[in-house]
Amino acid sequence: METKLILLTVLTALLSISATVRTEYIRPQPRKTLHLPWNPKHPSQPQQVHISLAGEKHMRISWVTDNKSAPSFVEYGTSPGRYTSSAEGESTSYSYLFYNSGKIHHTVIGPLEHGTVYFYRCGGQGPEFQLKTPPAQFPVTFAVAGDLGQTGWTKTTLDHIDQCKYDIHLLPGDLSYADYMQHRWDTFGELVQPLASARPWMVTEGNHEKENIPLLINAFESYNARWKMPFEESGSTSNLYYSFEVAGVHVIMLGSYTDYDELSDQYSWWKADLSKVDRKKTPWLVVLFHVPWYNSNNAHQGEGNGMMAAMEPLLYAAGVDLVLAGHVHAYERTNRVNKGKSDPCGTVHITIGDGGNKEGLAQKYLHPQPEWSLFREASFGHGELNIVNSTHAFWSWHRNDDDEPVRSDQVWITSLISSGCLAEKNYELRKILMTP
Ligand SMILES: *[C@@H]1O[C@H](CO)[C@@H](O)[C@H](O)[C@H]1NC(C)=O
Ligand SMILES: *[C@@H]1O[C@H](CO)[C@@H](O)[C@H](O)[C@H]1NC(C)=O
Ligand SMILES: [Fe+2]
Repeated sequence: METKLILLTVLTALLSISATVRTEYIRPQPRKTLHLPWNPKHPSQPQQVHISLAGEKHMRISWVTDNKSAPSFVEYGTSPGRYTSSAEGESTSYSYLFYNSGKIHHTVIGPLEHGTVYFYRCGGQGPEFQLKTPPAQFPVTFAVAGDLGQTGWTKTTLDHIDQCKYDIHLLPGDLSYADYMQHRWDTFGELVQPLASARPWMVTEGNHEKENIPLLINAFESYNARWKMPFEESGSTSNLYYSFEVAGVHVIMLGSYTDYDELSDQYSWWKADLSKVDRKKTPWLVVLFHVPWYNSNNAHQGEGNGMMAAMEPLLYAAGVDLVLAGHVHAYERTNRVNKGKSDPCGTVHITIGDGGNKEGLAQKYLHPQPEWSLFREASFGHGELNIVNSTHAFWSWHRNDDDEPVRSDQVWITSLISSGCLAEKNYELRKILMTP
């Protein structure tokens, strides 16, 4: 008893010394998982409404109903309550041990006008929602936040994103942190609905989406059922990798947790997708995946090396402007890099796995800071990528400092097409794309 007390006193003393010696701002603790009030709904009432781009001028509306007979149509129009069009969709559901999902509806609407507000209703039931379609041309703004989860900090991040003007939300993996507890996918869906029903959420999978149980449950069962992305529209056979184009930007979503070697389906699809990219039409090329390749945080150190070894030569030859990754719960931005060092014709890598999940921040870094690492900080926050025109984009990172969105890092990024790098790369790219 007494030794315990002494130990405690010594520990407290040590802690207070380290606290006074430390001069830098001390990051707040992770916040608790939110407990949304259980809000019973009419069985046919749409829940967890979210939208995603589904090919040129189309949008996929996804929602869940408890009623397994509820229909999958969406009515929509450009003025409130006046639905001039409607579309019929598909539905799915899944079982996970003792959990049975609701009916998960996916309905594609369109063709839609660019930069236009539409009002819509799901399955003829419940409230009216509104969405805004992305612009046809620059400028276009992406909000970026990975590793979201559903804690108090997630809510703060989402509130800050809500305050900014953006067209599309990009999420480089780790959505709900349901971690096998399937009802948490439902609470996550409810948490994000106010934002995700209004702007397209384009997501790719992280490790927390996997949720496989050997011999019983396949990987990504829940994720694929709930967060259907435009893989068919982009010639992919898997929801784990796909691409889309918006206002002069070609965005490629890759999967860190599916095969990526040169003989894999993902790699073949990626080559086919790159061969279709026309840099006159889409001067910007952006890639997302979950596990960062350039990471100077102790957390998940080296985990991206296998994928980097397999895919970086093609990434470089294709002239990818920007990579957005998650997984590490901190923020880091690199110089243009290739093969482990700065290269003026390389890619800027940004790790933004700091959405606010229950696991907290990754605070330990490698020292010295690698030459390619320009900015790193372990705080929750979100990013904004404003692509102004074919040559200039403004990137900013907003830290959730004491609940205020503080713009902490900002930089102009110029596109590779304006650098003269692409002409030199063309030969290398053709060579890789021609290899069967
Ligand atoms: C379920 O949906 C069907 C089709 O809309 C409807 O006829 C039925 O009354 C609904 N059941 C419940 C319990 O709401
Ligand atoms: C693109 O935007 C940048 C930053 O606003 C500006 O300096 C540049 O002149 C623009 N270029 C073109 C071609 O409009
Ligand atoms: Fe992760």
